[in-house]
Amino acid sequence: MHSLLLGAVEALKRGYLVAFPTETVYGLGADATNENAVNRIYKAKGRPADHPLIVHISNINLLGKWAKDIPEYAIKLARSYWPGPMTLILPRTDLAKDFITGGQNNVGIRIPNQTLGLALLSEFEKQGGFGVAAPSANRFGAVSPTTAAAVETELAAYLSGADQILDGGSCEVGLESTIIDCTGSTPNILRPGAITPQMIFSATNLEPATTNALIIKAPGLLESHYSPKAKVILDQTPNHGDGFIALSNIKTPEGVIRLASPKNNEEYAKVLYQALRSADSQQIKVVHAQLPIGNDIAGAIRDRLTKSANR
Ligand code: TXA
Ligand code: MG
Repeated sequence: MHSLLLGAVEALKRGYLVAFPTETVYGLGADATNENAVNRIYKAKGRPADHPLIVHISNINLLGKWAKDIPEYAIKLARSYWPGPMTLILPRTDLAKDFITGGQNNVGIRIPNQTLGLALLSEFEKQGGFGVAAPSANRFGAVSPTTAAAVETELAAYLSGADQILDGGSCEVGLESTIIDCTGSTPNILRPGAITPQMIFSATNLEPATTNALIIKAPGLLESHYSPKAKVILDQTPNHGDGFIALSNIKTPEGVIRLASPKNNEEYAKVLYQALRSADSQQIKVVHAQLPIGNDIAGAIRDRLTKSANR
């Protein structure tokens, strides 16, 4: 076992924070049963305390520790897409305290699909842990980090010497997980992601709702979110000196700074947040982005870009 990994597990057990890679974005983790440790996540992020946290586990066998009355369709989703970029909202057990759920009776659970992240979770569990609470490892309202360096930029000033950042390279998916509310008789998508409505249908034979009515249930889904310092403008013509993000088949207008030219929607998702960050580090004031079309991960890209333009 890698000594960095064992050190990180030790830090979690002692109540410190460990930022770790997942396939979506980096998370800022703490022992999900340790109230003081979880409180430090809120402090480091500058996040309001009523915003619930996702509990990360490595194995579906631990699901019953955190959630109960799990509907059959949620089991089907779990078996189809875990480990993977999907969070299920389920009725909580007594293990999921108010400091995890923001006082709600539901808890968000995810098994991520990233080698180092999974190794951290499973070693933590092997040593007696039940799960790692982790929001995206950014300051509240900012762009989620998809590299360890981006975590450092976001949070170094708010972490202590005993907290750790595990470097697992850049995240494969690049956008946060699909959040599916599984507390009703059919699945309800609270946040779009790489697990699409079609994929949910094919696993469950149920048409998922995509209502925004549950925005209050997930306060992190505030209208303005995922925002860089630069102003984000969608589907318009950039001016001289502006940043520009679009699929590679779209040409860069004269005098415009190209921030990313992904070849397809998957690559668009993967590079988007890094492109927004590079706009800020180059002190670009305005970023233009072309919304991708399609019903694959393009839906999640449109969701995030629309919110980051909504600042
Ligand atoms: O991909 C991801 O989901 C990443 C990685 C680290 O796993 N995590 C992440 O966490 O994006 P966070 O906290 O930045 O966003 C999770 C969203 C928040 O809007 C939160 O309010 C919502 O999920 N959420 C968490 N638990 C919930 C619950 N019990 N009910 C409703 N919404 C919940
Ligand atoms: Mg977040």
